[in-house]
Amino acid sequence: MLIRRPDDIPSSEITPRMLFERRREFLRLSAGAALAGILPAAHGALGPGRASTYSTSEELTPLKHVTSYNNFTEFGFDKGDPARTAQALRTRPWTLSIDGLVRQPKTLDIEDVLKLAPLEERIYRLRCVEGWSMVIPWLGIPMSTLLKQVEPLGSAKYVEFITAVQPETMPGVRTRVLDWPYTEGLRLDEAMHPLTIMAMGLYGDVLPNQNGAPLRLVVPWKYGFKSGKSIVRIRLTDSEPRTSWMKSAPREYGFYSNVNPEVDHPRWSQATERRIGEFTKRKTLMFNGYTEQVGQLYTGMDLRKQF
Ligand code: MTE
Repeated sequence: MLIRRPDDIPSSEITPRMLFERRREFLRLSAGAALAGILPAAHGALGPGRASTYSTSEELTPLKHVTSYNNFTEFGFDKGDPARTAQALRTRPWTLSIDGLVRQPKTLDIEDVLKLAPLEERIYRLRCVEGWSMVIPWLGIPMSTLLKQVEPLGSAKYVEFITAVQPETMPGVRTRVLDWPYTEGLRLDEAMHPLTIMAMGLYGDVLPNQNGAPLRLVVPWKYGFKSGKSIVRIRLTDSEPRTSWMKSAPREYGFYSNVNPEVDHPRWSQATERRIGEFTKRKTLMFNGYTEQVGQLYTGMDLRKQF
């Protein structure tokens, strides 16, 4: 078997995954360099993370697309807006409050959130309701690790995620397009599912502002909008929270928003998707391909009605 050194490979053959591996190697070797100032020593640099059995082995979407084709309405409505305008987002100091139906409500400093557990790398598909998808190597911790900190009460059934409002840095919140703050919600068992993570990085690096720094939810079997960005508060409740998109267009966006090729958006089909960087469309998979892991959460539900 011929093994080529990375430097022998023409750049046309270099895949995003190879670039990612190189970057991880670089970060490993340069532990203690620039990023160490941002992240606790316990993690070294925000580099390799712990590989996860939940990851897909599909081709990664190039970093340049992940960071330049974004939805972050607080920072504008064109896909290219957040990459430019979210640079103003203030991500320090940052606290995360977890309260509501819990035994031990807490307000954690972002640095303490980073110390809670080793960062895990999860390569997940992200499928947007608009019909595009990406494959992204996230770095984060299981949401269950965070929620266990506050000891949810037996009466807690739902989790509401409330995101930051910074009128001075976010041009979008000065408009009435959505009811700010941007909020999302999950059932408690969905939030506790091992696939659900609080991401703090991607591609081996700190989360770029436009991708929801410093903390964003990632729920890979649901449409992208469920993955709220720049979260400041998590509230456990006994009733289903009304999310920003449900308030703005209840016929179009339901509470569950599971990726489902059989349930069309009222204005377009959800049967196919375009992977960013590719030309031919792919078939969209039920639960974004995660049926084996999450299908049982919805046993007995009519997913046409509870969309
Ligand atoms: N979070 C906040 N706070 N504001 C938003 O507008 N948009 C959502 C979600 N999280 C959004 C948000 C939508 S519609 C999508 S598709 C994903 O973020 C996009 O994440 P990405 O830009 O990192 O790919």
